[in-house]
Amino acid sequence: MAEIVIVRDKEAAGELVADHIAALVRENPEAVLGLATGSTPLPVYEALRPRLQGVDVSRVRGFALDEYVGIDPAHPESYRSVITREVVEPLGLNPELVRTPDGTPEGIEYHGEEYEAAILDAGGIDLQILGIGTDGHIGFNEPGSSFASQTRVKTLTEQTRRDNARFFDSIDDVPMHCITQGLGTILRARHLVLLAFGEGKAAAVAGAVEGPLTASLPGSAIQLHARATVVVDEAAASQLQRAAYYRYAFDNKPDWQGI
Ligand code: PGA
Repeated sequence: MAEIVIVRDKEAAGELVADHIAALVRENPEAVLGLATGSTPLPVYEALRPRLQGVDVSRVRGFALDEYVGIDPAHPESYRSVITREVVEPLGLNPELVRTPDGTPEGIEYHGEEYEAAILDAGGIDLQILGIGTDGHIGFNEPGSSFASQTRVKTLTEQTRRDNARFFDSIDDVPMHCITQGLGTILRARHLVLLAFGEGKAAAVAGAVEGPLTASLPGSAIQLHARATVVVDEAAASQLQRAAYYRYAFDNKPDWQGI
């Protein structure tokens, strides 16, 4: 079972996860971080900034989960730009060591395999940050994605395009295709940390954590992982059946275990 941590708000979630990541980087200056875009991970990146002051981050490596296909990498909403703006620059990471999947249409059929090879070359991902879509996607693995899937091109659902339209002038500007780490790729990371905030995520979180293992709710794949941590606020936890037990377990957890 994933460990479920119910926190007061997204700031508390950011601090909890950032404490853990900062300790990981201090212990291993070559840590490989799996980075997520979207609104959800922002409190983690914000809380990481002061925690990494004075820490050598020059060798930290990063792999983003996904990218839009056909978007100009210089577009402010390309995930390359988002990762540069939200993670690489504020945390002072070496941009050459932080990769996003290549969404250039030319040769797109090979970009998935190239990305998998790059992750493998880096020794695999130590900690993968994840959000979850209202339709249960993780990365851009939309409902129906195989649990064994690798980095590849996917078609975004209408719902995801609507959800992401807020970042663009209109829904018509949201790309139709993406290139995303697969569920199989994500499951190879050594630690998964999934965050979710707000009522709108409550059904997806309950399905992922307590529902059946099903490709119809890709987030349920985390049940297959030996070390998955789910950090949610009260609203996102509101449909969990065993919330009282999760609180009890976390409150009584030995400090040395961390998350
Ligand atoms: P959000 O997106 O963090 O912007 O809500 C999450 C996701 O789609 O994975």
